[in-house]
Amino acid sequence: MIIAIDGPAAAGKGTLARRLADEFGFAYLDTGGLYRAVGLSVLRVGGNPADAGVAEAQSKSLDLALLSDPELRAEATGNAASKVAALPGVRANLLDFQRNFAANPPEGRPGAVLDGRDIGTVVCPGADVKLFVTASAEVRAKRRFKELEERGVEPDFGVILADVRERDERDMNREDAPLKPAEDALLLDTSNLDIDAVFLRAAALVKERM
Ligand code: C5P
Repeated sequence: MIIAIDGPAAAGKGTLARRLADEFGFAYLDTGGLYRAVGLSVLRVGGNPADAGVAEAQSKSLDLALLSDPELRAEATGNAASKVAALPGVRANLLDFQRNFAANPPEGRPGAVLDGRDIGTVVCPGADVKLFVTASAEVRAKRRFKELEERGVEPDFGVILADVRERDERDMNREDAPLKPAEDALLLDTSNLDIDAVFLRAAALVKERM
């Protein structure tokens, strides 16, 4: 069974994906981590993330150890990720890995949960369950703000909100695999719905399709 979860940054996709994977014993792949790893490796070689030549080369020989690098979650890495993610060659290089994970989940698990921007539309258009998780830019920026505060950073709300909006803009307006709900996706707006309520709705849909 394949569960596809898409949506903008900080909408709650990752939390929902992890809970569903736990509940049903499925494998989980955070596909944003792959784009972040490419972005980080471009920054490490001193390249420009918008430069197709460098980014494609890094995505071809991606070092999976970068997925557990402490800098993977940094704002600068997220920004570089959204730039390399606009390059068709980079997306093509990451496609096989994602599709293979979905078709053959590790450790013989009976299903896979993938979250990202284009899972229901491009990576796994035949997924059994498609969810599109969203929330207003303000709510998502507040969540980011709190997360950073908890990590001991003194964030600037205006900067975070501008960053969320800039990333949305880039993700939704790129030519290749833009962020948008699949036609058959269930829309879940987490602006006013807490994660437990979202989880219950999603889990009910998964059970229905099993
Ligand atoms: O979800 P996360 O913020 O970690 O993703 C980082 C960036 O990777 C996103 O801003 C987006 O541009 C890109 N991405 C993508 N397709 C995916 C997952 C992430 O383009 N399936």
